[in-house]
Amino acid sequence: MSSAARSWDRAYDGTPPWDIGRPQPAITGLAGSMPVGDLVDLGCGTGEHVLFFASRGHRASGIDFSAAAIAKARRKASERGISARFDVADVLKLGSLGRRFDTVIDVGLFHTFEDADRARYVRQVSELVRPEGRYFMLCFSEKEPTDWDGPRRVSRPEIEASLSEGWRIDFIREAAFATKFHDGDGGSAWLAGATRLSGPTPDRARTRMKR
Ligand SMILES: C[S@@+](CC[C@H](N)C(=O)[O-])C[C@H]1O[C@@H](n2cnc3c(N)ncnc32)[C@H](O)[C@@H]1O
Repeated sequence: MSSAARSWDRAYDGTPPWDIGRPQPAITGLAGSMPVGDLVDLGCGTGEHVLFFASRGHRASGIDFSAAAIAKARRKASERGISARFDVADVLKLGSLGRRFDTVIDVGLFHTFEDADRARYVRQVSELVRPEGRYFMLCFSEKEPTDWDGPRRVSRPEIEASLSEGWRIDFIREAAFATKFHDGDGGSAWLAGATRLSGPTPDRARTRMKR
């Protein structure tokens, strides 16, 4: 296990602040309107989002490199009688996996990466999602105060730049990221949705924004 994985793993000795015991309302709010199909949640933690989609009848799976988080996710699935798959793996090292998903979701993973790994990560997401498949991502925004430390804050232009090749950005919306310590709905976040373009050559001109 890498030192990064070990440090995330230690967070799951207890209940980390992001592990709120339910899916993020920003994500459940998408459920009625998004085509889901086969879904994978990258950095799934203890599995609330996977279990949410699996309980709605979707084939859903989650990947996280914290073995402790995945053990908790599997326990929840068994206790709730929900069929879902959870795997321990580093999402930066998945390669093609030999299969592609209709939908990739990411709740709080994108904003953990440094620049080089962020680019690597987006390439990996591109490998995992089929052409015309979707990527939905919730991350803390630059509007979130930094007085509580936490992960990197991400700006809208940074999201646009990350998804500028091979993706059509469908929306980037202001959203809330619920945690155990935020009052109200949660911290300031961006919810982004993007579609993987088919064809080998990414076309920046096709990028469009809906705000
Ligand atoms: C902020 S937590 C969010 C967890 C979950 N999505 C949720 O909403 O509760 C980020 C998660 O990403 C996982 N993670 C970070 N880097 C990873 C990597 N390279 N591969 C797999 N998982 C990773 C961590 O172990 C952690 O569970």
